[in-house]
Amino acid sequence: MVVFPSIAAVAAVSATLLSLVSGSPIGPENSIEARQNNYYVLQAMTDGGVQTRLDIREMERNPAYKEVWTLFILALERFKAMDQQTKTSFYGVAGIHGRPYVSWDGIPSWSDGWESQYGYCHHGGQLFAMWHRPYLMLYEKLIYEQALTIVNEITDTNVKAKWRTAASKFRLPYWDWAMKAPSGEHIMPTSIADENLSITYPNGTTKSIANPLYNYSILMTSGRAHCAILRDPITTSMQRPTKPRCTNGSMRVETSRLVVSTES
Ligand SMILES: *[C@@H]1O[C@H](CO)[C@@H](O)[C@H](O)[C@H]1NC(C)=O
Ligand SMILES: *[C@@H]1O[C@H](CO)[C@@H](O)[C@H](O)[C@H]1NC(C)=O
Ligand SMILES: *[C@@H]1O[C@H](CO)[C@@H](O)[C@H](O)[C@H]1NC(C)=O
Ligand SMILES: *[C@@H]1O[C@H](CO)[C@@H](O)[C@H](O)[C@H]1NC(C)=O
Repeated sequence: MVVFPSIAAVAAVSATLLSLVSGSPIGPENSIEARQNNYYVLQAMTDGGVQTRLDIREMERNPAYKEVWTLFILALERFKAMDQQTKTSFYGVAGIHGRPYVSWDGIPSWSDGWESQYGYCHHGGQLFAMWHRPYLMLYEKLIYEQALTIVNEITDTNVKAKWRTAASKFRLPYWDWAMKAPSGEHIMPTSIADENLSITYPNGTTKSIANPLYNYSILMTSGRAHCAILRDPITTSMQRPTKPRCTNGSMRVETSRLVVSTES
């Protein structure tokens, strides 16, 4: 015998399905628009057309890139000064890679049983380039956005135009560590290893500032979030410190060493 559902039964089932739909992730609060509101949409750098990616020494020393270099340093300084709780802050973006080992946007990162969270990055596998390329694009884009803010603060129209052109040429520099160091210099560029840098601001004032490429202070918010592998780029040695590797307090990363202090 075939049982046909009554109209009333069909209506009841439909009502249930509808209520499931309205309570489902397809509700207005989960619309594409709503979901994208809170997200950062990453697009390729198109300002200025195709630009040459420079070695960091070239960017620093070639007079043609003087303003580009200055914008990079000043923009990085601002990016690093952003509130660590902001997803697109220097700290937040560093956490997408791992170190600080924090979850980004509420998504737990992978765990290896050694750490409960181990970042999201892919190393030692085929996904290395596919993962790191968009990651660096994000880092580059956020610094570029800070550079545009700096340019927009310039009041003199001619000066502003010159620096706006410089911003359009900005692309994240690389450090070619396989290149022979210039005579009398260490392989580690001084612009990374020096505590202070001399900068000429758009208003013409030259000042020595704390080098934003030199260090970063992490505010530790939990007992295990910032365990780190110590890396000494001067000797290129890498040590995995033995446990306990995690301390509360503040951690300062310098280019030549990592300093952990237990005072908060
Ligand atoms: C860097 O600047 C700070 C503040 O002016 C100063 O105390 C420090 O000695 C400078 N470092 C070097 C290596 O010159
Ligand atoms: C130029 O800008 C810098 C950074 O904002 C500031 O410290 C300096 O006092 C300014 N110089 C003049 C002459 O306004
Ligand atoms: C960077 O290092 C200098 C010199 O050791 C220190 O004065 C400064 O507070 C450090 N800055 C950060 C952000 O850690
Ligand atoms: C760090 O602080 C957290 C929260 O206050 C605590 O649970 C944890 O045991 C501390 N870790 C260490 C290594 O002291």
